[in-house]
Amino acid sequence: MNKNITLDEEKVIYGLKKIPISQKRKEIENLFTNVSNDYDLMNDLMSLGTHRIWKRDLVDRLEREQILTKKKKILDLAGGTGDIAFALKKRFHQNEITVMDLTLGMMKVGKQKAIKKNIHDGLNWVAGDSAYLPFTPSSFNNITCAFGIRNVAEIEKTLNECYKVLKPGGKLMILEFSPEVIIPFQKFYDYYLGNVLPFLGDKIANNKKAYQYLSESIETFYAPNDFCDILQSVKFKIVKLKKYLSGTACLYIATRI
Ligand SMILES: C[S@@+](CC[C@H](N)C(=O)[O-])C[C@H]1O[C@@H](n2cnc3c(N)ncnc32)[C@H](O)[C@@H]1O
Repeated sequence: MNKNITLDEEKVIYGLKKIPISQKRKEIENLFTNVSNDYDLMNDLMSLGTHRIWKRDLVDRLEREQILTKKKKILDLAGGTGDIAFALKKRFHQNEITVMDLTLGMMKVGKQKAIKKNIHDGLNWVAGDSAYLPFTPSSFNNITCAFGIRNVAEIEKTLNECYKVLKPGGKLMILEFSPEVIIPFQKFYDYYLGNVLPFLGDKIANNKKAYQYLSESIETFYAPNDFCDILQSVKFKIVKLKKYLSGTACLYIATRI
């Protein structure tokens, strides 16, 4: 048994299993370290390129939700290889963007991309766990989190931390896959998650286990209405929900009062 796990440690969902929090954090960090070099390619394949449209829509909506004329501070949580941060930086040059992620390997790929795109100025990269944000309370205008929340070990703690570091009126925008799609597509979707995704992960990234986990983590994530309830239970108000591609992915927009 891992000596770092205390016997009474709370267990959380990891794929189809329940494991102690500290073990999930470690497994996730190892998994994303292993896939970091293939992550962008696999993202395109897994979502058939649609993740780009959804991410662009998140940025469009952020623009509509808040007028980003003055200098603002935005935190991109579980920002990985930087897609959202780059889109924000390109659109709103004057803003200060902080990417935070648990996995150094993902941010390493992100930093190399930022240098290639020549948009590294004004981008901060912070390594850490979203459940323990090392920022001053009420210091960010907005927080974005794309396809990260289902992977974090402590979801409610993370949401509470987001509430704490957002300024009043600030928006938390979470993009995440959903286990539920509209009924005619549910069987096809379940087949895609259970068979096609691990197959692609095996053939393209040579890592069936990681992509098996990614499918399972979607299957066991909250249904959209349940996740809205969780956001409200940690004090967020005005939770808006937008569904993409028959419900495959959802954008949650929650306001800190
Ligand atoms: C599926 S990737 C999403 C990356 C990026 N946001 C995107 O949309 O391409 C999930 C990311 O969540 C990060 N992550 C998982 N648990 C985390 C935690 N507790 N705190 C911060 N980041 C975490 C992983 O390291 C990984 O980079």
